[in-house]
Amino acid sequence: MKELRVGMIGYGFMGKAHSNAYRKVNNFFPGLKIRPVLAALCARNPQKAEEFAGTWCYESIESHWEKLVERDDIDLIDIGCPNHLHKDIAIAAAKAGKWVVCEKPLAMDSAEAEEMTKAVEDAGVPNMVWFNYRRVPAIALARQLVDEGRVGKPYHYRATYLQDWTIAEDVPQGGATLWRLDVDVAGSGVTGDLLAHSIDTAMWLNGPITRVVAETETFVTERVHQETGKVQAVGIDDACMFLARFANGAMGTFESTRYARGRKNYNTFELNGADGSVRFDLEDPQYLDFFEYMQQQSGKKVEDHLTGWRKVHVTNFEHPYMDRWWVPGCTIGYEHTFINALADFLEAAADGKSTQPDFRNAWQTQKVCDAVLASAKNGQWTDTGVEL
Ligand SMILES: NC(=O)c1ccc[n+]([C@@H]2O[C@H](COP(=O)([O-])OP(=O)(O)OC[C@H]3O[C@@H](n4cnc5c(N)ncnc54)[C@H](O)[C@@H]3O)[C@@H](O)[C@H]2O)c1
Repeated sequence: MKELRVGMIGYGFMGKAHSNAYRKVNNFFPGLKIRPVLAALCARNPQKAEEFAGTWCYESIESHWEKLVERDDIDLIDIGCPNHLHKDIAIAAAKAGKWVVCEKPLAMDSAEAEEMTKAVEDAGVPNMVWFNYRRVPAIALARQLVDEGRVGKPYHYRATYLQDWTIAEDVPQGGATLWRLDVDVAGSGVTGDLLAHSIDTAMWLNGPITRVVAETETFVTERVHQETGKVQAVGIDDACMFLARFANGAMGTFESTRYARGRKNYNTFELNGADGSVRFDLEDPQYLDFFEYMQQQSGKKVEDHLTGWRKVHVTNFEHPYMDRWWVPGCTIGYEHTFINALADFLEAAADGKSTQPDFRNAWQTQKVCDAVLASAKNGQWTDTGVEL
């Protein structure tokens, strides 16, 4: 088995999720030809980096990503730090011939995403963006049902991504974990942070989004910056709603906010087609709801008083990824989606193939985000320019 020496950048939320995936992936996907080795953890604060490296058994630490990227003993760079750093790290890593995996959103904007895509493609290195929700078994099952033609001609796609953690006006912006509220570091607010997930899932299930019209709002316009201590204008979108048209003719609505009291990570979608509908809610992630339109079953007319939605508990061996985990009825959770994603990436890369979403694919999502933000400014329907 080939060793893949990982250089992980960032020890925050995603640093932990990815480190866990590297450590577990071969246990649950024993057929993989590649074994990740936790070679180096990179973060600016050496003491914190040392602590994290000790907990997760990294062999070494680095305080500067530039040094990590230059190291001959590193094969793969994993970018798990704030968005404004993604581009420079990814391009340097690709130029150094490293495999590159990057957190979402791929970049601050579509222009950056394009540069990054060209860099990994010119270097010919395996690459992936961690849109992990595609690897939730229930969402992968939704895709399977679409592929099997059970939804039929699609008419409507409806997505929400709601949270409630920035309602208080005294939440500062900037710095550790709150960098998401600082536009210079995050690029945008809920559009890049949350809707990027919804857009990725939507285009995976229902094809390219061609046009959008959007509204955004910033409810709290000034916040103290954690690093400067000064009150500064807030440049991110706190909430965003947009209408979308898909290349297949379907209509879409998307809504995201961090001001929906009681909603913590309410990531939902529903797709309605001529032959059926699928519905998912990340706060209830073991289930996929499916409505199948049937007039006849086993040669008999379906009795109208017995039609209805099916709530499929997605834990059978026959369900996507579930033959890798526990016995039917036993659930998996959030962290497993990263392990599933990593397994797909390693399996494809071992055979010189790419896995989705790669940088090119995530660049398309970035184009939609850009079009949404542009439309919110100009008030017009805006073409996304997504590859068809
Ligand atoms: N796939 C998902 O569902 C998901 C979930 C959360 C975050 N993300 C993405 O992951 C990335 C990181 O988010 P997070 O929630 O882990 O953030 P976080 O704030 O928890 O952690 C960020 C880490 O980056 C490190 N860092 C900052 N500047 C650095 C530098 N110059 N060099 C090295 N390290 C540096 C910080 O020390 C910290 O360890 C973001 O792009 C975010 O959008 C994706």
